[in-house]
Amino acid sequence: MASVEMASAPGDGRRVVGAGESGRSGGDIACSGLYKWYGDSAVVAGLDLYVAQNQFVCVVGPSGCGKTTLLRMMAGLASIDSGTIAISGRQVNGPLPSVAVVFQHYGLFPWKTVFNNVALPLRASGVAKGEAARRANDALTLVGLNDIGDQYPAQLSGGMKQRVGLARALAIQPEVVLLDEPFAAVDAQTREILQEELLALWSRYQQTAVFVTHSIDEAITLADRVIVMGTKPGRIVDDIEVPIGRPRSVASVRRHESYTPLRERIWDQLRGSSTAGGERG
Ligand SMILES: Nc1ncnc2c1ncn2[C@@H]1O[C@H](COP(=O)(O)OP(=O)(O)OP(=O)(O)O)[C@@H](O)[C@H]1O
Ligand SMILES: [Mg+2]
Repeated sequence: MASVEMASAPGDGRRVVGAGESGRSGGDIACSGLYKWYGDSAVVAGLDLYVAQNQFVCVVGPSGCGKTTLLRMMAGLASIDSGTIAISGRQVNGPLPSVAVVFQHYGLFPWKTVFNNVALPLRASGVAKGEAARRANDALTLVGLNDIGDQYPAQLSGGMKQRVGLARALAIQPEVVLLDEPFAAVDAQTREILQEELLALWSRYQQTAVFVTHSIDEAITLADRVIVMGTKPGRIVDDIEVPIGRPRSVASVRRHESYTPLRERIWDQLRGSSTAGGERG
């Protein structure tokens, strides 16, 4: 497949981690020469990025460097001014059914139960009723919410709502899941629990994931590879492999010998790329 072959020669010449390791046929993301302007300013300028299928990439960078813009372009929710994005070899011109998006603000249907928030998108994508129910229950069990399937979003805490959002995105079994600071609005303890749950969900479903975060710890905990963006214009300033095996837990990552050096390297890059940003979470 053409886009997988790009793995050996991404535009920026960096080593690609994990390219082609999986037997799956889809789910890679190839961004090539991407530009996005708002008015006269280039928010994203000449960005090349290849994400191999099943790879978990975290994107960090100072506020305003274009992380959300990049994700929205991948999701087909923002236009691409120049360059291309291909997902599983298909050019992105609008939202693709094989791509799920999780935002900070949940995006749940308030008038539907927890169960239906997860099951109905499956039904809408053509999954038979029994299979949709099985998958929804399975995903809700993985995030510890199978007992509250008949409740409504308004009855849930922020952490629980985000669990439903994760379960919904991953139960669809998209080829790619794009997450924009999904845990930024929850408290620190809930955030670590959600990270553990996402690690478990991801090891179950193994989608290609691009996860934007301001937290260096979160990035190292979750990712196979951390992309550091710089600002003005938005561009990639570092591309770092996380040499920590799976399965992982938050605790095992923190204990790993690579953890502190990785953390320092990312911090140095962020300091160098801008004084405007920094770690918020
Ligand atoms: N719709 C828009 N119209 C005009 N400018 C925009 C629009 N969306 C984003 N921008 C600008 O593009 C730049 C990048 O925004 P973006 O939201 O992608 O940054 P970010 O890296 O996600 O920041 P944060 O970490 O604060 O979420 C910012 O300067 C922002 O003001
Ligand atoms: Mg953003």
